[in-house]
Amino acid sequence: MTDAIHNPADELPIKVAARDVTVSYSGKQALHNVSIDIPDRSVTAFIGPSGCGKSTFLRCLNRMNDTIEGAKVGGSLTIDGQEINDKSIDPVVLRASVGMVFQKPNPFPKSIYDNVAYGPRIHGLALSRPELDEIVENALHKAGLWAEVSDRLAHPGTSLSGGQQQRLVIARAIAVNPEVILMDEPCSALDPIATARIEELIDELRENYCIIIVTHSMQQAARVSQQTAFFHMGNLVEYGPTEDIFTNPRDTRTQDYITGRFG
Ligand SMILES: Nc1ncnc2c1ncn2[C@@H]1O[C@H](COP(=O)(O)OP(=O)(O)O)[C@@H](O)[C@H]1O
Ligand SMILES: [Mg+2]
Repeated sequence: MTDAIHNPADELPIKVAARDVTVSYSGKQALHNVSIDIPDRSVTAFIGPSGCGKSTFLRCLNRMNDTIEGAKVGGSLTIDGQEINDKSIDPVVLRASVGMVFQKPNPFPKSIYDNVAYGPRIHGLALSRPELDEIVENALHKAGLWAEVSDRLAHPGTSLSGGQQQRLVIARAIAVNPEVILMDEPCSALDPIATARIEELIDELRENYCIIIVTHSMQQAARVSQQTAFFHMGNLVEYGPTEDIFTNPRDTRTQDYITGRFG
């Protein structure tokens, strides 16, 4: 389906390119030949009914399917032209450059400071404590959390509200200089005010990152994304500028989904 491949944001360089990506779990195919070009410095939303393969495709991008027993991934997936399924790629290093944020905020049982410092410590990004302090402060700033936590960095991450925890997790991802940030329904567990805060943050972050967000909220996809991809039963059905997908969908399955006929 050549329509689904093209980069809808012609002026932006392609960051992620998938060609015929397939995934099966214990022999049962969950993703069928997905081909897509995803531009840098913008937000791409994945929408579609539950079980259509959104999370499965997201997990291909940081090789998280490697950790699932019985999962088999095929096809080609490149980030900046580099094949990420190549034997030479260390998944631990890949996962620093492709950060992931889940539905339920998952701070480590550590202080706010140590949550953010964890990755930089593991990857040896700071040579001294002042350098580490700076990385932590910077990441918390970028995640829009610094003002709220600067006076209590030693408090447990879990002491924060749900929305703050989600921003802490985003700071943790940012601290290791990712290129791509994957978000799998990041606002599903948040109230509307915390959700609005995350959406604003996503809009700020897109200046510097390639962001891919899975959302079951079409309103959210319309608000935060520049490109939208619609998945259905393991297929990428339609992909294009968000406005086109919502105002002028070409496939009847996309039409039916966005008008609420199923999903
Ligand atoms: N860990 C797993 N083991 C076996 N099957 C899975 C696993 N994860 C997902 N699947 C199956 O793959 C399909 C796609 O699921 P998923 O990617 O989670 O969809 P979505 O995120 O769009 O709701 C579903 O049929 C689901 O049951
Ligand atoms: Mg999912």
